[in-house]
Amino acid sequence: MSGTVEIVGVTKRFGSHLAVDDISFGIGSGEFFSLLGPSGCGKSTTLRMLSGFEAPDEGAIRIAGQDMTDVPPYRRPTNIVFQRWALFPHMSVEANVAFGLEAEGRPRAEIRSRVGDALALVGLSGFAGRKPGQLSGGQMQRVALARALVKQPKVLLLDEPLSALDLKLRHQMQIELKRIQQEIGTTFIFVTHDQGEALAMSDKVAVMNAGRVEQIASPQELYDAPATRFVAGFIGHANLLPVTVEGPAGEGLARVRLGDLGFVAVAREALSGEATLALRFERVRIGAAQAGVGASGLDNPGLDHPGLDHLGSARATGVVRQMIFGGSTVQYVVGLDAASVEITAEQPHGAGAAVFTQGTPVTLTWEPADGRLFRP
Ligand SMILES: Nc1ncnc2c1ncn2[C@@H]1O[C@H](COP(=O)(O)OP(=O)(O)OP(=O)(O)O)[C@@H](O)[C@H]1O
Ligand SMILES: [Mg+2]
Repeated sequence: MSGTVEIVGVTKRFGSHLAVDDISFGIGSGEFFSLLGPSGCGKSTTLRMLSGFEAPDEGAIRIAGQDMTDVPPYRRPTNIVFQRWALFPHMSVEANVAFGLEAEGRPRAEIRSRVGDALALVGLSGFAGRKPGQLSGGQMQRVALARALVKQPKVLLLDEPLSALDLKLRHQMQIELKRIQQEIGTTFIFVTHDQGEALAMSDKVAVMNAGRVEQIASPQELYDAPATRFVAGFIGHANLLPVTVEGPAGEGLARVRLGDLGFVAVAREALSGEATLALRFERVRIGAAQAGVGASGLDNPGLDHPGLDHLGSARATGVVRQMIFGGSTVQYVVGLDAASVEITAEQPHGAGAAVFTQGTPVTLTWEPADGRLFRP
């Protein structure tokens, strides 16, 4: 209860620009909650309103049940960690971490013990006497974290705290941060534009776009059941194909047509006419083109049969336009023969998987129920 956060109808404008547009959601005590979205979508503004450095134009923020409207930043049960760890360069690690407690006039013995605990928590016990200039980037970020945690906030706000670190260190710190959060049980609100980071660490993620919240869900739900076209495109990698929906056919399934290719999917969504079919890269299989098999669309377009068992796979032929080697996986961008679109297929690399070079004729297949439909 002590770390719950409620955001109710919050809006923030800068001049005529709507930076945050009527957002409402709750965050449970002890949750690792991420705000994820592209640059400029309003993540930092939302975080600054939680910390009190920015005031909403409309709406209310409650932390631990208390209205924060008239509470200044230093009286809020929050603390914030920024992307750039603004440490005092002339002060030791210990003095940097102790700074906030000294400003509060805490007794010396208490400060010593709390600073020691905070440094132990972030794995820097032996570093108390060093100056920031004698630390690596990752160590400096740990000091910044210790400095925020030492004040024992109910809610810790983190604004892209790992983005200045190299990839390897970033992955290490993601695991570390999650461990620390679980150990102390503090509510973490973590801002990032990196979906991998948000998915790896969070209990829940709010996906933001242009000042609005598109979906709030667990990482797995976001991936498996994106609520909007934006989320489908932003989380993971998906082909977003322009389709026409005709339907519903047997069992209430709508048929999805992709240009001259014919029917390529079925859908339960209540949409008709122009739509976007989101088909994840890894759901599309790629194989060598077979002589004489030029058919495209569904193998068995007998859509009047109820259920999906009768449908077979959807199939399209095309030519590899680009091969993108990603280490553990390979992506193939394939120009279709029967429609002027490209579909990207992703498959694991190695373990006997065939490799298709640029210009190779190939066949793509996927399950007709694997796509998801959205308004265009
Ligand atoms: N003080 C300000 N004055 C005017 N406009 C601002 C101010 N702060 C933010 N904005 C604008 O509000 C929008 C949201 O900004 P915000 O910093 O919240 O984005 P963000 O999601 O954190 O982006 P990034 O990932 O790039 O950090 C942007 O268009 C930004 O230019
Ligand atoms: Mg930001």
